[in-house]
Amino acid sequence: MEERLYGDHTMADIDLAAVERRALDELAAACDAAAAAAWRARYLGKKGEVTQLLRGLGVLPADRRKQAGQTANRLRALLQEAFDRRRALLEASSPAPSAAIDVTLPARPHRQGHLHPITLTLREIERAFRDMGFAVVEGPQVEWDEYNFERLRIPADHPARDMWDTLWIDYERDGRYPMLLRTHTSPMQIRYIERHRPPIRVIVPGTCYRYEATDATHEWMLTQVEGLVIDEGISFAHLKGTLEAFVHRLFGPDVEARFRCDYFPFVEPGAEVAIRWRDGRWIELLGAGMVHPEILAATGYDPARYTGFAFGIGVERTAMLRYGIDDIRYFYDNALGFLEQF
Ligand code: PHE
Repeated sequence: MEERLYGDHTMADIDLAAVERRALDELAAACDAAAAAAWRARYLGKKGEVTQLLRGLGVLPADRRKQAGQTANRLRALLQEAFDRRRALLEASSPAPSAAIDVTLPARPHRQGHLHPITLTLREIERAFRDMGFAVVEGPQVEWDEYNFERLRIPADHPARDMWDTLWIDYERDGRYPMLLRTHTSPMQIRYIERHRPPIRVIVPGTCYRYEATDATHEWMLTQVEGLVIDEGISFAHLKGTLEAFVHRLFGPDVEARFRCDYFPFVEPGAEVAIRWRDGRWIELLGAGMVHPEILAATGYDPARYTGFAFGIGVERTAMLRYGIDDIRYFYDNALGFLEQF
């Protein structure tokens, strides 16, 4: 049997719940008797939407007609009741037509969002380095193996290339895995050196990805801030002074920073920086080191003239320490109860 068109729809695809929601929303917005009366005509009047809808039921096959009829009748009764209540309310609250809008009513509270704790922390880190004369630049999150690994002197058999650590975009081509989600922000060291001449003083904030099982201190998505300084006469003392200034700026002048040897293929010597937290524990915050002379030479810099240092700060770690959060997974859970505390 042909179903008659109702507006642009057949009876069968009218979403009564949507009609109900729309009608009730509009009724709630009707703030005087005239608006309420117009609403009533629109939905329940002779030519009203719901009235028309009920009329249209006749074209449905008998088995569907009964059920659709009950639902539509329930909707009509519900809207009629809502209208009666609304009218009573409007009459009670507007004794005189001129007082239809009560301007003395307190405004409804407005829900307002705010920045995510990682964004807040990132901005603080950026401010700290901007004040030390660093520029802020960004790089691509989808990288070539060449930048993420090869040119950072991370050889093909390095464990970081293992598929368990890296999310590959282009898994295999010519027997190689050339495109990936960057596992750190260090590829921007190469990209930046390629296109600029010293003096260089930049930080690179950004999201990185690792194919890891998550736990309290590891997430598959993380934020880093890379730093790169290259000029004549840059020494390890500059690295130390800069990172100590950063630690004191973010965590207070009394927090101790510990530098220990660490290995990263793209720096020499390499270091890790940990801070001593309130409970006496040392907590690793970042990796750093002097830019490897081979990297400078490979990009056309004379390593006898130019030296530099680089570092990579874990932003989630920094935020956890600043706010006293013991599980990294809270950040990306989208739980308002957590986020509203910032
Ligand atoms: N990219 C390193 C990491 O993700 C950190 C690092 C950056 C170390 C720069 C040294 C220099 O672990």
